Amino acid sequence: MERMQAQELQSSLQLPELDELNQFFRSLPISTLVGIGALTAVLAYWLATRPRAISPPCNLQHQSEEVAHEDGVRRSMLGDSPNNLLTHYHEDAKTMYEVFQRGLHIAGDGPCLGSRLPDKPYKWLSYKEWIISELACYTYSMVVVPLYDTLGPDAIRYIINTADIVTVICDKPEKAQVLLGNVERQETPGLKRIILMDPFDPALLEEGAGCGVIVQSIQDVEDLGRENHRKPLPPTPEDLSIVCFTSGTTGNPKGVMLTHGNVVADFSGFLKVTDKVIFPNQDDVLISFLPLAHMFERLIQSVVYCHGGRIGFFQGDIRLLSDDMKALRPTIFPVVPRLLNRMYDKIFSQANTPLKRWLLNFAAKRKGAEVSRGIIRMDSLWDKIFFSKIQASLGGRLRMIVTGAAPASPTVLGFLRAALGCQVYEAYGQTECTAGCTFTTPGDWTSGHVGAPLPCNLIKLVDVAEKNYFARKGEGEVCVKGPNVFKGYLKDPERTAETLDTDGWLHTGDIGRWLPNGTLKIIDRKKHIFKLAQGEYISPEKIENIYIRCEPVTQLYVHGDSLQSCLVAIVVPDPETMPAWALKKGMEGSYRDLCKNTVLKKAIMEDLQRLGKASGLHSFEQVKNIHIHNEQFSIQNGLLTPTLKAKRPELREFFKEKIEDLYENISM
Ligand SMILES: *[C@@H]1O[C@H](CO)[C@@H](O)[C@H](O)[C@H]1NC(C)=O
Repeated sequence: MERMQAQELQSSLQLPELDELNQFFRSLPISTLVGIGALTAVLAYWLATRPRAISPPCNLQHQSEEVAHEDGVRRSMLGDSPNNLLTHYHEDAKTMYEVFQRGLHIAGDGPCLGSRLPDKPYKWLSYKEWIISELACYTYSMVVVPLYDTLGPDAIRYIINTADIVTVICDKPEKAQVLLGNVERQETPGLKRIILMDPFDPALLEEGAGCGVIVQSIQDVEDLGRENHRKPLPPTPEDLSIVCFTSGTTGNPKGVMLTHGNVVADFSGFLKVTDKVIFPNQDDVLISFLPLAHMFERLIQSVVYCHGGRIGFFQGDIRLLSDDMKALRPTIFPVVPRLLNRMYDKIFSQANTPLKRWLLNFAAKRKGAEVSRGIIRMDSLWDKIFFSKIQASLGGRLRMIVTGAAPASPTVLGFLRAALGCQVYEAYGQTECTAGCTFTTPGDWTSGHVGAPLPCNLIKLVDVAEKNYFARKGEGEVCVKGPNVFKGYLKDPERTAETLDTDGWLHTGDIGRWLPNGTLKIIDRKKHIFKLAQGEYISPEKIENIYIRCEPVTQLYVHGDSLQSCLVAIVVPDPETMPAWALKKGMEGSYRDLCKNTVLKKAIMEDLQRLGKASGLHSFEQVKNIHIHNEQFSIQNGLLTPTLKAKRPELREFFKEKIEDLYENISM
């Protein structure tokens, strides 16, 4: 303890106020004045190296404002004028084609995209070589439609037909085989050309010819392009750039139509908010591990390459991510909350004694105090003693983490902001507004909200009377309007009309609340609500977001319906943290054995109840029985969407019998 106090003192001494320094000088005895030269040098050094607070781009107590004459509509403090939403940042980058050209201009033949094989260094494609696929399409104003095998075969057939896709570029011959099968069965008659990245068996050419499909290698296509060079036909901002199919939780996937202008507006909003504190440059390196189905991931990537930075892809195995980061030493890291939770749990499970945990929390608190004064750094005493190892495991050069796609836990964000010593931002949005519509204001390192509106869009809240949310009380469905809002769903006027109203407002389906300082907090979902038998409304996702903070739990699905009077849940324990957590409660065994242990089930159940109570859940919102499942919900087993959201109808079907058992055996 003595030592801790001394360290604490030292840390607070790192930031003396100037008048304290003056006093210090005044109190010096005359005889020490001979040493004043040395002291001046020390002082100069201190002034040059003292930690500096990030200066926020606006008053943090006033991060958005109401637009005059528009009831309840709020806008960013960082835009130009109320009627002038941000459409672009750089005059010479108004389409995704120009965005890339700009990066090319800055970086010359510098490295652009990198990947690595196990235990090998990263290999880089230079900007000039990257003329394939996406950019090639943009160069000739063609529209890109990403296809992901995780969408499933039905969705892929649906998308090829709906989007009238003529050419598919894919990596593996097996995928080409599947696509050819579809054509042979007359399921996708419009498909005429398949371009393969990997080497393939010439038999595929004949099979293609048999059903009228030309199969080519990307190499051949590149050679053809070189021999028959055509002048670029660059797009305008109004042209479509991408149709991003999002597989909803029900029905056919919806093709979100985004123009070049949409993407550039969102990109620029993000740039504008952060430009004073973290402007991207040629030294920036982004580590990419999220599925490219995330417009969020693609957008941050384009910010990086617009400024000449580079992008390194992980090897494809999440367990090797830290290894990849050590090799790549990235500066920018787009993540989802699930990954942050894993990092947090892992750090705490490695601090395996109560004393170590106490010290870790203590250090995070001390460093957190600095963070709340706006200082973000990696060289404090706390970093040297506690956090440098954690930082090194992420490559040691991170300057920005951006999380999005799902709500992040305030506890986890708070801890990581202190421990990682880099700026951690939270974005909120959906593909229908390209990616983000709100973003953390630099310098506001508090959590529990999703920041303020981006300068490219307005936000208003709309009454949801059936759930008791009213705009006049600062609560309601989040609606977004601006140049980043999509043009509608491809060939789906009905669902477009449900989402995009005639005044151009995108209705997100999320329920938000304005905080006094102009930030937005997401508090609920409009859909996925049901009534319990006794008539109480339940929003299972709200409850899941609370329960997911339970330390040994990595995923859960809360179930209920109007025939039941209470809720039950399927809980997946975290293979990394649960065994240690169980050990503390006196249970030993393998992950699988523990998952069958009824004592563990009881302990988890109690912890869920505790969390629910602490977060103000009503007793009818608390689950009354749980089933422990030992396999994670994943895209592969069909229980998560490609953007890692729970597929509720599938979960319900998959766990049908377990759920019935749970209701039969409610003991409380
Ligand atoms: C903004 O308001 C919320 C809620 O009152 C608070 O938690 C947060 O700390 C505030 N942010 C700042 C920067 O003061």
